[in-house]
Amino acid sequence: MDYNLILEEITAKVKAEAKRLGTAIPYIPAEDGRYRDAESIYWWTNGFWAGLLWQLYHATGEELFRAAAESSEERLDAALDGFENIDHDAGFLWLHTSGANYRLTGNKRSERRTLHAAATLAGRYNPELEIIRAWDGQWIKGFDTAGAAIVDTLMNLPLLYLASEITNDPRFKKIAMRHADTMLKYMVRPDGSSNHQIVFDINTGELIAEPGGQGYESGSSWSRGLSWAVYGYALSYRHTGREHYLNVAKRSAAYFMANTALTGYVPLADFRAPKEPVYYDTTAGAAAACGLLEIAGHVKENEKAFYIESAEKLLEAMDEKWCDYNPETDGILSGGSVSYHAPNHHEKIIYGDYFYTEAVLRFLRKDFLIW
Ligand code: GLY
Repeated sequence: MDYNLILEEITAKVKAEAKRLGTAIPYIPAEDGRYRDAESIYWWTNGFWAGLLWQLYHATGEELFRAAAESSEERLDAALDGFENIDHDAGFLWLHTSGANYRLTGNKRSERRTLHAAATLAGRYNPELEIIRAWDGQWIKGFDTAGAAIVDTLMNLPLLYLASEITNDPRFKKIAMRHADTMLKYMVRPDGSSNHQIVFDINTGELIAEPGGQGYESGSSWSRGLSWAVYGYALSYRHTGREHYLNVAKRSAAYFMANTALTGYVPLADFRAPKEPVYYDTTAGAAAACGLLEIAGHVKENEKAFYIESAEKLLEAMDEKWCDYNPETDGILSGGSVSYHAPNHHEKIIYGDYFYTEAVLRFLRKDFLIW
């Protein structure tokens, strides 16, 4: 793949999108193919547009990207102010906005926003269950979410690692590690696959359910959730140096690649769904590619090739069929599925654009660590 050419095309496209969007924060293009402003300021994907902009600012130095990213960060203050609607996805929101700004510019206001968001995430920790609570409210039919934890949270733990780094206080990091250890014990299966959700009884601490969540069913294997485990555990290894996190990232990566190879390196939305209908989720491939490249940075020389070549195969499959580099249209990566049972499939979704771009930049060594 000609990564330099792809970066040129993405740069031109995102520049055109930023001009069209103004201060709007995109999610999924509407029926006319255009990105619109997110419906809720709390929506978990609201950081990815800024993350994409900061990555391109870092890679190209173009001021337009920085100004647009800063406008998303300011808009998210409305979510920080109404903090009771913030959930386990605080990392997805503020690592990509204030966290990225702080890391690249040292901005003090951004540092405060980042610590504020980290404090809300740490506040969701249940010390008896040793989990970071997922949502508030009725997100899991039939269960009290006070006892629920989900695989997605692994990707939010870097907000806590960053808070410990900034404050030189280990509490945030310890909470992240406790959550990562509990998920390892209850959610990652011996074959490397994982479940989306686990629910404990809040009084007895007993595991009472393993709902399939955004996957096909309980016991199935939601591919984006698995990519969160691959990348999330690799990042926990980076921030803690604990070998068991790297080992589980590798185990999950092997399962992910063995299954993705069966469908031409385009992941199914769930690896254990019925044969028909066929639903893919390219966003899982894009996030997993970043995770594989993260793992490659931590393993011995003789192990690196597997991870780098696997990431390349995933990106090639996306580039061949699912990428739109036309600056006149919105969205880069199509083929995304929000969840197995969602009404629509094979869409452009902003986090697909983000992870695809991060992976391309990683190959060019022009990325910076948002996580
Ligand atoms: N809820 C996070 C995801 O859809 O991956």
